[in-house]
Amino acid sequence: MAVLQGLTSQQAIELEEKYGAQNYHPLPVVLSRGEGVYVWDVEGKKYYDFLSAYSAVNQGHCHPKIVSALKNQAEKLTLTSRAFYNDMLGRYEKFATEYFGFDKLLPMNTGAEAVETAIKLARKWGYEKKGIPSNQAKIIVCQNNFHGRTITIISASNDPIATENFGPFTPGIVSIRYNDLNALAEALKDKNVAAFLVEPIQGEAGVYVPDENYIKEAYDLCKSKNVLFMADEVQTGIARTGRLLASCGNCSCPEKNCSGTPEVKPDILILGKAISGGVFPVSAVLANNDVMDVIRPGNHGSTFGGNPLACAVAMAALEVVRDEKLAENADRLGKLFRSEMKKLIEESDLIRLVRGKGLLNAIVINDTEDSSTAWDICVALKENGLLAKPTHGNIIRFAPPLVMTEEQLLDCISIIRKTILEFKR
Ligand SMILES: Cc1ncc(COP(=O)(O)O)c(C=O)c1O
Repeated sequence: MAVLQGLTSQQAIELEEKYGAQNYHPLPVVLSRGEGVYVWDVEGKKYYDFLSAYSAVNQGHCHPKIVSALKNQAEKLTLTSRAFYNDMLGRYEKFATEYFGFDKLLPMNTGAEAVETAIKLARKWGYEKKGIPSNQAKIIVCQNNFHGRTITIISASNDPIATENFGPFTPGIVSIRYNDLNALAEALKDKNVAAFLVEPIQGEAGVYVPDENYIKEAYDLCKSKNVLFMADEVQTGIARTGRLLASCGNCSCPEKNCSGTPEVKPDILILGKAISGGVFPVSAVLANNDVMDVIRPGNHGSTFGGNPLACAVAMAALEVVRDEKLAENADRLGKLFRSEMKKLIEESDLIRLVRGKGLLNAIVINDTEDSSTAWDICVALKENGLLAKPTHGNIIRFAPPLVMTEEQLLDCISIIRKTILEFKR
């Protein structure tokens, strides 16, 4: 393999370090192939992928149905721009709006672009429908959020690594504590608030699951003040948390798997990542007509947004989620995973707790936030054939592809167990 590709792992790492901007700190593994829940490095070593490209590869690597949709469409038409109509966009928009239960969809490419789009949409709605005075609109966000890396989005961040020396920032953002309904009620007293932007579970922050009633009550508070409730489901959406969307319920889910948690239908739903199964950059903003129709020709755009390849890939990816009952699988395996991790916590004082929903989980390592223990454990997991990554200091996120079988999950749990029990600080 290495000879064929002419590169060892070390050489590939050196190339990235010499010629690439250093905006990530990857684990030292160089991948060249993926299939289902597995990836292989350039030397041919096989690993379980326990991150799924930050929850983009929910359908598993190189899912044949999605790849075939990509190939077929690539041979016909790839890009028209929105200067012209194409024969895929309308079909995709009909499919996706019915799938998620909204009137309209606005297609973009990355998660950050979709969040930006949602903020623009909310501001415009605020001026034209709510009557907020010109240039006074505010968006409420939550501390420790992760919505992407553009200037407006980092203006909503309180993470010094994301913000230091990137100012000046976009005004009109009010930051409150996550999972704090009183703080939200207080912030909503301001009549110039157009929208509340929230992750139903804060993924990047360390898989923080809010109280059971939080999303529903936050939604009700927003409704009582004529404020849009915007759910950023870029990471939690598309079956990751054991249901189609972590926030929804009142929509036409292809899988009615929504019992036990409160139900809301966001005014603006933001999707990305797994909407394409990780095969192509596809993101989307969904809303009903009363909100979406404030956007008129020329107000917003993207050369690649809504391109025929993206449409074909996203339809196939969403069909896989429905046909393979991935939400159900994530729900069932997630419960098994957390119960096995709880047993491991009894055996080892290296792990403090496990939390999560469906197959979006994290363990908190019993060490200080600035320690390297979580990183060192991830390196040891890699040696033992499983790839995961710390998120924020002493937290390790575990998010395998949702096509995982119970047998594979048990195998992964035994790798994690062995690694933790043998680990020496
Ligand atoms: C909740 C959430 N929103 C937005 C984004 C940004 O997505 P992208 O990296 O595709 O811009 C992410 C990425 O991790 C995310 O987790």
